[in-house]
Amino acid sequence: MSTYGYFDDKNREFVITRPDTPLPWLNMLGQDEFYGLCTQTAGGYSFWKDARLRRLTRYRYNNNPMDNDGRFLYVKQGRTIWNPGWKPTRTPLDAFECRHGLGYTRITGRKGGVEVEQLMFVPPNENLEVWRIAVRNKTKRPQKLSLFSFVEFCFYEALNDMTNYQRTYSIGEVEIEGSAIYHKTEYRERRNHYTLFGCTRPVDGHDTSRDQFVGVHHGLHDPQAVLEGKCRNSRAYGWNPVGAHQIDLTLKPGAEEMFAFVLAYVEQGDLPKFAAPFVLNKTKGRQILAKYSDLATVDTAFAAVKQRWADLLSIYQSPNVPDEHLRRMVNTWNQVQCMATFNLSRSTSGYETGIGRGMGYRDSNQDILGFVHLLPERARQRILDIASTQLSDGTCFHQYQPLTKKGNADVGGGFNDDPLWLILSTAAYIRETGDTTILDAACGYADKPGSKDVLLHHIETSIAYTLKNRGPHGLPLIGHADWNDCLNLNCFSKEPNESFQCTGDIAGSKAESVMIAGLFLYAARDLAALYRFMGRNDDALRVDGYYADMLKTVEEQAWDGAWYTRAFDAAGHPVGSKSCKEGKVFIESQAWCVLGGAGRNNGRAKKALQAVDKYLYTSEHGCALQYPPYSEYHLELGEVSSYPPGYKENAGVFSHNNTWIHIGWTMFGEGEKALEYYLSICPSAKKDHDVYRSEPYVYAQMTASQFSPTPGEGKNSWLTGTGAWSFVAASQYMLGIRPDFAGLRIDPCIPKKWKGFTVKRRFRGVEYTIEVKNPQGVSKGVKSLVVDGKKVAGNLLPPSSGGRTAVKVEVTLGA
Ligand code: GLC
Ligand code: GLC
Repeated sequence: MSTYGYFDDKNREFVITRPDTPLPWLNMLGQDEFYGLCTQTAGGYSFWKDARLRRLTRYRYNNNPMDNDGRFLYVKQGRTIWNPGWKPTRTPLDAFECRHGLGYTRITGRKGGVEVEQLMFVPPNENLEVWRIAVRNKTKRPQKLSLFSFVEFCFYEALNDMTNYQRTYSIGEVEIEGSAIYHKTEYRERRNHYTLFGCTRPVDGHDTSRDQFVGVHHGLHDPQAVLEGKCRNSRAYGWNPVGAHQIDLTLKPGAEEMFAFVLAYVEQGDLPKFAAPFVLNKTKGRQILAKYSDLATVDTAFAAVKQRWADLLSIYQSPNVPDEHLRRMVNTWNQVQCMATFNLSRSTSGYETGIGRGMGYRDSNQDILGFVHLLPERARQRILDIASTQLSDGTCFHQYQPLTKKGNADVGGGFNDDPLWLILSTAAYIRETGDTTILDAACGYADKPGSKDVLLHHIETSIAYTLKNRGPHGLPLIGHADWNDCLNLNCFSKEPNESFQCTGDIAGSKAESVMIAGLFLYAARDLAALYRFMGRNDDALRVDGYYADMLKTVEEQAWDGAWYTRAFDAAGHPVGSKSCKEGKVFIESQAWCVLGGAGRNNGRAKKALQAVDKYLYTSEHGCALQYPPYSEYHLELGEVSSYPPGYKENAGVFSHNNTWIHIGWTMFGEGEKALEYYLSICPSAKKDHDVYRSEPYVYAQMTASQFSPTPGEGKNSWLTGTGAWSFVAASQYMLGIRPDFAGLRIDPCIPKKWKGFTVKRRFRGVEYTIEVKNPQGVSKGVKSLVVDGKKVAGNLLPPSSGGRTAVKVEVTLGA
């Protein structure tokens, strides 16, 4: 329990006990096509599929105070106005609680004896969110009050919405029917969709003009209509349409009123657009409101949200892991973050505005690694969508828009690690499902419209791309960057208005990446294993050859003496070498060379990890990205040297790459180290929330490192590859339950003092209950494996026989 809140593990909730958290603490609502961001004070916004092209409610990033727009309820009680979520009025409350649960947020505020509870969620497979409201009189006297709802509509295209007021201030249109407010801007022209904001009970007033409800010279903290206790029943013509309802209540002592608001995105489909000239056909909107006007439907929908998460999480559960942080992360919150990163990639969070980056090619491929066990069908579709943004020469669009699934031409390609990640995601999908038919699925290339090339073709194209594009040392060319988007070895930018990542001529450049070489080793090994699994031995041998060749190159060219060099710049000078003044040791090349199997027979892999330990790691914050940070801007290195020392890619703790080192330690049986490192970046284990500031239940992309003036400060939570990779590290390498092509592999690496643990894993239709025992106090090594009472050799669970759907596995670790 900290000053700000605590984990309620039984209910899978994080409970926030005061509204003024060090930063807004966010939750994610929705996991199909309708999404909402929701903070502990009900801040945030909603969108359908694509936060840029279908933004439903408005949000102003980079504002002050932070996090001002949202799903607000105002209470007017006598002369006092307040919000159950504290903001925007910030009137002190007598009690406050926010429960961020899985797919829902429940905010409860109390003042003057009146309690208002606002439960927000998105029902499964519906394009809407529900706010279930309970108003309770906790006193012995009758209470009279007015309640106001409030959202501000966005004109769907979120960038235009915040830049083009000469147009947008003239286009706003709404209709009002009873308790329903219809936002229908641009509906008369090309849009065939609208937004409904309705209340399930009769209302005593409404507003749709922001100028009328809030007032031109007022703010959301003191809206005119609320101060006066009376909506104006305004209809918006242009300017800024909002949705506000007024509900007057007189509550008897102890009484409770319950009702709901519904915010829905409605596509008309084939229905006639209009009921009469200028009048929207409201058939669907009316149906939605009628459906949720029955509060039993609301409760059923909420139960469905909870049930869905219970089902999803039951696929991997390890209820008695000795370490409480690892336990709650692996069982609950890490998987929740994997869902969010899969759904939103790098598009929408408290730090990603929804109008900047969309789906990242490398990012989404990695997100699949931590998600595929939850909903393999969706992972399959995503892999094919991603692959179809690859070009036939092997390059890839670095980002694409979720709605159109088309690559973003302004960013383009030329990030030379991108193609290889497709192999990791595909292998992970096949390991989970055994379904190799995905390789025959047609996905085509972005530059060959209508082409029917299959996924396996893309995979071979990716391998060939790396093999073909190599530099003077025989290492892969880096292009604009590799995993480290800020290592821009071809940028040479002197203009502050240029993009580091897109500037620079990469054609003919000689800059090389050791990280890509390591990633290639990993991908090639995966592909060879896949071919073997498919019985295609010739292809496996061919790919083994590529592997051996790249391995030789890495060992001959990239060993710096005590660690692996990071790269060679455009002039052929090493980056991440003892000969460098700054940036001598980098984490990524240690990680990927080790994961790719380099240094295994010559002791270098262990040394590489020891270099990380010596130069980059602290137990309080994790591993910095490199050492020492760059103190000056280096023309030949680009953005990596642009950040102040200790932040972001300039020697910040970039959580994502830490997880690779966690896996690295498990490869050497270092169970203590793996757990210690794991805990060093684990949000649940952060002790001082005034220092860490970010959410304690999800990973942040970055923590300011020991080299910064603000060590330990977390930033950019939710959308980071740390989500997927941490789950892989914890579930597959530390607890060691790892899908493989031929079945489930059991290979834990734990602290010696752990006596054991249990994992329940649903895998290819079978429920495995795996009991791991550690009588000899070892870290690694399966001594015996007993499957349904029968001893099995090795550590791979054979496919279940005789149609059994529940299998008991007893694992004994030891020498
Ligand atoms: C907008 C445009 C301007 C155009 C005018 C009339 O003000 O900025 O270029 O002439 O509309 O269409
Ligand atoms: C960001 C990007 C990711 C990149 C990382 C390191 O998280 O989304 O693609 O790998 O930064 O630069």
